[in-house]
Amino acid sequence: MCGIVGILSDHEAAPIMVEALKRLEYRGYDSAGIATVDARGTLDRRRAVGKLANLSDLLVHRPLSGKSGIGHTRWATHGAPSVDNAHPHRCGPVAVVHNGIIENFQDLRRELAAEGIDPESETDTETVALLTARFLDQGKSPQEAVAATLERLEGAFALCFLFEGEDDLIIAARRGSPLAIGHGEGEMFVGSDAIALAPLTSRITYLEEGDRALVRRTGVEIHDAQGRPVQREIKQIDIDAASVSKAGHKHYMAKEIAEQPTVLAEVLTHYLNGEGSDVLLPEGLDFSRIERISMVSCGTAYYACLTARYWFEQVARLPVDVDVASEFRYREPPVPEGTLAMFISQSGETADTLAALRYMRGRAQQVVSLVNVPESSIARESDIALPTLAGREISVASTKAFTCQLTVLAALALKAAAQRGVIDAAQLAARLAELRTMPGLVNGALALRARVETVARDLARASDVLFLGRGQMFPLALEGALKLKEISYIHAEGYPSGELKHGPIALVEDSVPVVVMAPHDALFEKTVSNMQEVMARKGRVLLITDAAGAREAGAGTWATLTLPEAPAMFAPILYALPAQMLAYYGAVAKGTDVDQPRNLAKSVTVE
Ligand code: AGP
Repeated sequence: MCGIVGILSDHEAAPIMVEALKRLEYRGYDSAGIATVDARGTLDRRRAVGKLANLSDLLVHRPLSGKSGIGHTRWATHGAPSVDNAHPHRCGPVAVVHNGIIENFQDLRRELAAEGIDPESETDTETVALLTARFLDQGKSPQEAVAATLERLEGAFALCFLFEGEDDLIIAARRGSPLAIGHGEGEMFVGSDAIALAPLTSRITYLEEGDRALVRRTGVEIHDAQGRPVQREIKQIDIDAASVSKAGHKHYMAKEIAEQPTVLAEVLTHYLNGEGSDVLLPEGLDFSRIERISMVSCGTAYYACLTARYWFEQVARLPVDVDVASEFRYREPPVPEGTLAMFISQSGETADTLAALRYMRGRAQQVVSLVNVPESSIARESDIALPTLAGREISVASTKAFTCQLTVLAALALKAAAQRGVIDAAQLAARLAELRTMPGLVNGALALRARVETVARDLARASDVLFLGRGQMFPLALEGALKLKEISYIHAEGYPSGELKHGPIALVEDSVPVVVMAPHDALFEKTVSNMQEVMARKGRVLLITDAAGAREAGAGTWATLTLPEAPAMFAPILYALPAQMLAYYGAVAKGTDVDQPRNLAKSVTVE
């Protein structure tokens, strides 16, 4: 899951590509590289390990001229992050950048080795450059060489090719991984997504599965998977190119946490009618016409689905299956009639979620997605794409997208209950009035910042942390643990509180903090019993609760965080805040790279 760009400009390409790659760093930052062709047709490249800043530094000392180029920011799949493994990969007259995985690369390497052609890197991508160079060597034109190469590749890819002696040609191809062509005035661009190209052009053509594009400054010629010339629509894309500032915060994550009251209010404005008493659904979305929901997602979005399952089942009496996307299709689940398939994804590009969506197409009655990037592949391949409306989320750790997903899902579950006759219009309006209090309550949770920071400093000294929750707080325990792991590198696990005594309680000792997420609701007493079991074994408990919970069970805890009291159904939205802030301040205390934690990428576009 890497980011790729291609540029045929009338300006120097290197600085433009570095800027475009900056906007793709969410896809990986293990290494970066660019290749250009200059006016004399010379192909050259620069590559650097680590973040893009290292490539920028290198370019200061060893500039690269040329108005045509391809660039790459890498999340390592095959081969360690090293200069040799960094893209662009070059073989003789061709350079290649790639996002995806060439699954048959070992077979291809063996075939090439038999001909005495040896790779310089450990990557799957270099095989593509080697094959293309071999076809060029046999006298094929760049177009023919690329077409012949593509026929040999198995797996998922988005590729850009640049050729020595050709300063007005980039060949781009996609199978499985997204690729966008940008149309400028006498300039053309290629990018993994429209965001990368946003400052350059708003006129975008999305390549479709199997497409191959010959890009020249005068325009683009596209051939489909069968090699037939095709026309693809040019869309006007409205992306706010300026939405990348930290607005005075030290990290994007801090900014995104702080934005939650605002974006949640925007979600409610969008999804509710003027009086706030009804949920406005897009045409064709009717929960009374379905029998069950199958939800599929990854990571934090998966935890949003787990939370929503409580809502759809308890409130709308609609059965829900929830699956992790990376496992879903391997189960080959039979899809009962009347199934609505729902896919939740911030990026809309997560490869496993997209593959699950494709599995469900033709099997499910309807394919609905909830995505934060409206131009994304998942949105485009859904029957109905619902917007998450979190605004651009840059930090790798998802925060505002999660609470926006929860808010949309809560509104949908309530509407489903009304459509299915489980609640009447007055009950719907009453519940929505409660939901409308959430932006204010979330704002109240933000006021705990200083207190959370103090607790997090202590928590950050631990090597292991357990998170516990019961009922709809269980997915929040999972989310709290994931947040802590991914940005502060502290080992953390989330468990249903009742499951503790079936094994994990063996881990409890005073060096292992146990975070208990327990609003004072119907399950509070039971969770507190589990908490007592921890404290009886000298466990250090951080209790996250409300005023009533703190009064009843705050005594004897290591620390208690007291949140505003929330309507019971919507408490998960509020309890996401302390989970996010604990992870954030824990990471700040540890001095880790908050926004771009090691080994991760914002958008996981490989399986
Ligand atoms: C969240 O903090 C993670 N970085 C990650 O688990 C993420 O939620 C997951 O990769 C799914 O991404 P998506 O929502 O873009 O599909």
